[in-house]
Amino acid sequence: MTQDQLKDAVAAAAIDEIKPWLSRSTVLGIGTGSTANLFIDRLAALRDDFKGAVASSEASAERLRGHGIEVFELNSVGTVPFYIDGADEVNAHLHMIKGGGAALTREKIVAACAERFICIADASKKVERLGEFPLPVEVIPMARSYVARELVKLGADPVYREGVVTDNGNQIIDCFEFMIDDPVAMEARINAIVGVVTNGLFAARGADVLLLGTEHGVERLTP
Ligand code: A5P
Repeated sequence: MTQDQLKDAVAAAAIDEIKPWLSRSTVLGIGTGSTANLFIDRLAALRDDFKGAVASSEASAERLRGHGIEVFELNSVGTVPFYIDGADEVNAHLHMIKGGGAALTREKIVAACAERFICIADASKKVERLGEFPLPVEVIPMARSYVARELVKLGADPVYREGVVTDNGNQIIDCFEFMIDDPVAMEARINAIVGVVTNGLFAARGADVLLLGTEHGVERLTP
């Protein structure tokens, strides 16, 4: 199977996971990226079975609306029963690195408001230790150099993601050569640097379920 076929298989499995719980008042939290896009495309067939969605990026909001799914502001919704999103890396504890698509801050906010986080990913995303994928950090633009120097002190090789502006008007630094032994501690440590909006470690609030697309079918893993 190709990577895209594995992503589509987990998108389908996520539909099966949430379908029994949908009602006309349900507002879903929806992530960002190629796997989330496949989920959105499949969700279109169910659009009359639920109320709408909160999106973690302008791109996902546009795709949802394109399918006739109403998009709500998070502030008007409060909590969502499910947040469905991909990951760049995920470990056995269902801690993740996210933000390859620069949507990490809104993803983390919607995830924080979700009763259950369902991570959908192809098998290439599953790792023993987080950090092979460069860890994204969203920064207030004027703090970029300062934050980069602080990240060097933590052992990272920070690289400014040139030309990228987040949906929040900020910039991204990617931390290379940065293997992470304690994701919960490192998430808090980086977030404590002045000028950091948030970082792409999703560990304090990891996923509740991982639907992992493998050659042998979709595996359902919990922490
Ligand atoms: C977006 O900022 C990311 O967090 C994505 O969720 C992550 O990069 C997974 O993307 P793919 O599904 O495209 O691999």
